[in-house]
Amino acid sequence: MNICVFASGNGSNFRAIIGAKRSGFLSSDICLLITNNSGCGAVGIAKQYGIDVYHISRYIFKDIDEDEYSGLFISKLKEYKIDLIVLAGYMKKIDTGVIHEYSRRIINIHPAILPSFGGSGMYGINVHKAVLNSGVKVTGLTVHFVDDNYDKGEIILQKFLDVHDDDNEDSLQKRVLSMEHKYYSEVIKEIETGKIKIGNNFS
Ligand code: GAR
Repeated sequence: MNICVFASGNGSNFRAIIGAKRSGFLSSDICLLITNNSGCGAVGIAKQYGIDVYHISRYIFKDIDEDEYSGLFISKLKEYKIDLIVLAGYMKKIDTGVIHEYSRRIINIHPAILPSFGGSGMYGINVHKAVLNSGVKVTGLTVHFVDDNYDKGEIILQKFLDVHDDDNEDSLQKRVLSMEHKYYSEVIKEIETGKIKIGNNFS
């Protein structure tokens, strides 16, 4: 498969996926990084490994409509013959046109057990703060397909982790992230082997 990763932040999941490819665990090609944030850590990682970067955001393309904006993503994804889009800390909502074109071909990782602690504003460290504030004793990660309902697409995998009495948001984030680094590549591997089926209505 040809994979495109979307990322906005540090890019530790992106780095883990590249590591899985370099170690031979994954066979797909990681062809392209799409980011809304040209200064983010993920861009530095892409440069380090010679992966092409496409920087696209509404700040650059202010005056085009939604279809045209989706079209920019789609034409870039087609140019690279992308089979699977992997969201790894991408902090923007995916445009409807892209979701429909790549139906069941976009996966996301979320640092909590969805459907709890998901939806608008629930990303990165905010999720761990909300988990701690709620007093729940278990958290974890969710990998899911991306559809029109934000953070509500079909769940592929969930892994659980105890919240410790002395956890703060940083310690929780660190422990959840290290699980993410392991399990996101495992999901991609299961897509490669066909154990997890992705969309085939593909042009
Ligand atoms: C990860 O914890 C990921 O699950 C989360 O952002 C972090 C990105 O870290 N994604 C979301 O919250 C999406 N709603 P990274 O840039 O180091 O991979």
